[in-house]
Amino acid sequence: MENFNKKIDRKMNDSRKWNGMKQYCDTNDLLPMWVADMDLEVPEFAIEALKKKADEKIFGYTMEKDEYFYSLINWVKRRRGIELDRNKIAHSPTVITSLNLIIKMLTKVGDGILIQTPSYPQFIKQIEKNGRKTLINELSEVNGEYSFNLEDFEEKLKESKLFILCNPHNPSGRVWTREELTTIADLCVKYKVKVISDEIHSDLILDGNHIGMASLNKEIEKITYTCLSATKTFNIAGVQSSFAVFPSVEEKLEFVEELGLIGMHEPNSFCMNMVISLYNNGDEWLEELLDHIRGNIDYAVEYIRKNIPKLKVSKPEATYLLWIDFRSLELSGEEIKEIMLTKGRVALTMGSAFKMEKYARMNVACPRYMLEDGLTRLKKAFR
Ligand SMILES: Cc1ncc(COP(=O)(O)O)c(C=O)c1O
Repeated sequence: MENFNKKIDRKMNDSRKWNGMKQYCDTNDLLPMWVADMDLEVPEFAIEALKKKADEKIFGYTMEKDEYFYSLINWVKRRRGIELDRNKIAHSPTVITSLNLIIKMLTKVGDGILIQTPSYPQFIKQIEKNGRKTLINELSEVNGEYSFNLEDFEEKLKESKLFILCNPHNPSGRVWTREELTTIADLCVKYKVKVISDEIHSDLILDGNHIGMASLNKEIEKITYTCLSATKTFNIAGVQSSFAVFPSVEEKLEFVEELGLIGMHEPNSFCMNMVISLYNNGDEWLEELLDHIRGNIDYAVEYIRKNIPKLKVSKPEATYLLWIDFRSLELSGEEIKEIMLTKGRVALTMGSAFKMEKYARMNVACPRYMLEDGLTRLKKAFR
């Protein structure tokens, strides 16, 4: 059994989460529960794979190897019963790289791109920095449960060239059901709006089953671009590896050419061995991780309900992120941030980043002692 409660120290880990808080406030002297990576070690077999690569002692230009792609294909087939076509999968250093290039491939400056709020901040950033227009479909929320607002979705779709779906959803933690996805997929097909389905969190399912957007039916598969990655699953974001799955071989080749133009088409020396070892051997570790996350979520939700009842929180069905509703405090987003940082000395990601004020996202992928510390700080700030 993996011990996820082991004491860890990331202060010397060149970590954005631990060493990069000054970009967000004026100090690094806070408990960081913001950036979506885990304060948990990766399994030992992946470290061995990394060391084996290091032992080669030469790190020149690399080439993709088939085993890298087949480790993903076998993982997805084994865990979800989905068959991916090797010829339609491209390596990409990060999902953000894929979002950026696919937006450029599929749309022109000024085109409307639809997203749903609360939204992972990079969606909006990529749309706007590329000179496209952000169209927003706010998700419906009732007692902390999020669902699609279909009427508005259909209206906005009529003005959109592309829709970016977060599946499962960060930050609400919703695992969209087959029925929900089919409804929006049918609308995207009807209005001929292509879809990027960001499925980076799809291995972190706590309750329910992940349904790949492209796996719903042939029509939606023809217009869906799926982003997958081992980096969230196994906490290797710093190694940089992801996959983009295209509707056709031609589009995949076009994407690889675009990646080549910015010199990013070759995987770095270390990511392939790590990803192969994790996808080939990581099932049991992942199950144990999910149990640890479920335990942390239960603990955190119960703690907040008992000790800081004005904050509202629901259990996510996926991810290790808690989406906390601060609205009943009747404070502005800025005031919430100020109190959290100065009184609580704890860093959460503020709701404004997701285009939703008066919320904050708390990352609970950490040892229990750290979670207890974070919750105590939150209580000190807001009880
Ligand atoms: C929905 C979503 N997409 C993409 C990313 C970033 O992925 P990458 O590090 O591969 O760019 C994140 C990271 O938090 C995320 O939550």
